[in-house]
This record gives sequence, structure tokens and C-alpha cells, in this order.
Amino acid sequence: MRVFVREVTWQDSDDILRWRNDRITRENSFDSHIVSKKEHDAWFQKVISDSKYCLVIGFNANKEKVGIVSFNFESQGIAEINVNSAPDKRGHGLGSMLIKEGVNYFLAKFSDTKRVVAKVKEHNIASIKSFEKAGFSFRKRVAGAVILEFPHSCQVD
Ligand SMILES: CC(C)(COP(=O)(O)OP(=O)(O)OC[C@H]1O[C@@H](n2cnc3c(N)ncnc32)[C@H](O)[C@@H]1OP(=O)(O)O)[C@@H](O)C(=O)NCCC(=O)NCCS
Repeated sequence: MRVFVREVTWQDSDDILRWRNDRITRENSFDSHIVSKKEHDAWFQKVISDSKYCLVIGFNANKEKVGIVSFNFESQGIAEINVNSAPDKRGHGLGSMLIKEGVNYFLAKFSDTKRVVAKVKEHNIASIKSFEKAGFSFRKRVAGAVILEFPHSCQVD
């Protein structure tokens, strides 16, 4: 099984909103409110036009969408990653491939990135395992969450 990625376009917007408002996605999110179409459109417009963000969508070999990986530069050289698989594509180990391909794409485009950081709710074992399988390492625990980091070849402190 392989996952292929490309950057998102407006044609992906409705799928991304639907996946965002999925019950399990919201349970595993730090912000669990239901996002309206209006709110989503404003956010989407911002993230596709601001170089601080990079959104990558994944496909399987049948050209079906499997999920989204988003990156957000929190500070100089440090990007925060989020992943959300399409609800009907969960539970088959695709999440780790989506993360891996997303990170490869992102680091090829932003090669001066120092590190990629994931913040995951501590009970979200599927997510923690997926990040670890994609090459992330446990960094620390913070209130109710686990921080994992991608060991990019650049020197990290
Ligand atoms: C998190 C997510 C990307 C994981 O992707 P996935 O492909 O569905 O992951 P899987 O269900 O195949 O689980 C990954 C691994 O965790 C294991 N796992 C899942 N739930 C587990 C549990 N409760 N206890 C132990 N292991 C568990 C699976 O067995 C699998 O292990 P393996 O790789 O050794 O086979 C996906 O489920 C998702 O998008 N969830 C909703 C949004 C979300 O939580 N995003 C992350 C926010 S940081």
C-alpha cells in the first residue's frame, strides 16, 4: 500500500471540512467545536495563501483521498504538524504513511526547517503510534498531551 500526496486546492475544501467535523476527529482535537462552512472557508482562504502554512492531501493507489496533513510554522524553523485521516480510511495503518509522505513533501519544500513537532492527546494511541511509525520520537509530556518530534537531519536543540 502506498500513499501519494499533493498540496490541497479549493476542490478539497468540502472534504476537509467534513473530516474536520467528524465526531472522532473532534474528540481527538484540542479544539472540538463544530466548524461552520463560513468559518472553514475563511480559514481555508488564509491557509492556502499564507506561506506560514502548508496543507498536503493524500491518496491511495485507487486515487481515493485518504486524509490531510497540515503544517504550521509556529516559530522560526519549527513547524507543528496535524493529521486527519478520512473517516472511512482509518484503522488500516494508512495514517503513518500519510504522515511520512506529508513530512517528506514538506521538508523538500521547506528544507531549512529545524524540526517538526506533533502535539497529540495522550489517550490517542493510534495517532501516537502512527507518528512513531513515521519516524517521530517522543519528546515530552505536557498537560494531557504528548509531544513528538521529527528528527530532521538539521541540528536540533
Ligand atoms: C490518528 C490517525 C491518523 C491514525 O491513522 P490510522 O491509519 O487510522 O491508524 P490505525 O488505526 O491503523 O492505528 C495505528 C496503530 O495504532 C494501533 N492502535 C490503534 N488504537 C490502539 C489502541 N487503542 N491501543 C493500542 N494500539 C492501538 C494500531 O493497531 C496500529 O498499530 P500498527 O501500526 O502496529 O498496526 C487516524 O485514526 C485519524 O485521523 N484519527 C482522527 C484524527 C486524529 O486523531 N488526528 C490526530 C490528532 S494529533
